[in-house]
Amino acid sequence: MTGTETISSAAFRFACGRFATGVTVVTAQDGTGQRWGLTVNSFSSVSLDPPLVLFSIDLGANSYAAITTADQFAINVLSAEQQPISDRFSFVKDEDRFKGIPLIAGEVGEPPLLEGCLCTIICDRENTVPGGDHTIMIGRVRRIVVTEDKAAQPLLYYAGCYAGLKV
Ligand SMILES: Cc1cc2nc3c(=O)[nH]c(=O)nc-3n(C[C@H](O)[C@H](O)[C@H](O)COP(=O)(O)O)c2cc1C
Repeated sequence: MTGTETISSAAFRFACGRFATGVTVVTAQDGTGQRWGLTVNSFSSVSLDPPLVLFSIDLGANSYAAITTADQFAINVLSAEQQPISDRFSFVKDEDRFKGIPLIAGEVGEPPLLEGCLCTIICDRENTVPGGDHTIMIGRVRRIVVTEDKAAQPLLYYAGCYAGLKV
């Protein structure tokens, strides 16, 4: 099958699900100080020099306006223990998703940084690129916080389910 017109959304989603990913929570803060965050697995590194990363955000996301216009956003890479945080930032609606979630201190003006992550990548918004029903956000990395726990394991996502590393 080669013609894209013959590929159903379900088949495309099924195929894309066969690409295992990590799980992140992207956070940002708007001009009023309100915190925003959503679970994202479309994260990818783009360029080493300059250091660039990307993720894509659904045009219909509640956080769309805040995340796509914030000067900075943070990619919080979740550890295996943080599945409840992934659930919270994807399923909880109409409630402050940050309530009860421990944060680490950031520098002035930085987005919320979640505690206990494998790493957090703080970015300046570099560019936004249309991508169908999503917008591709490109960020220039300004600061990185990496866990010192060498035994920490990643939270993975595969075929619509959470997974873990088997090593
Ligand atoms: C594992 C996982 C990965 C996800 N990846 C993305 C993503 O890359 N981009 C996106 O826009 N939504 C993604 N979502 C869906 C959003 O997290 C979800 O729709 C969330 O409720 C959006 O929040 P908002 O509507 O408050 O902005 C993902 C959900 C899960 C569970």
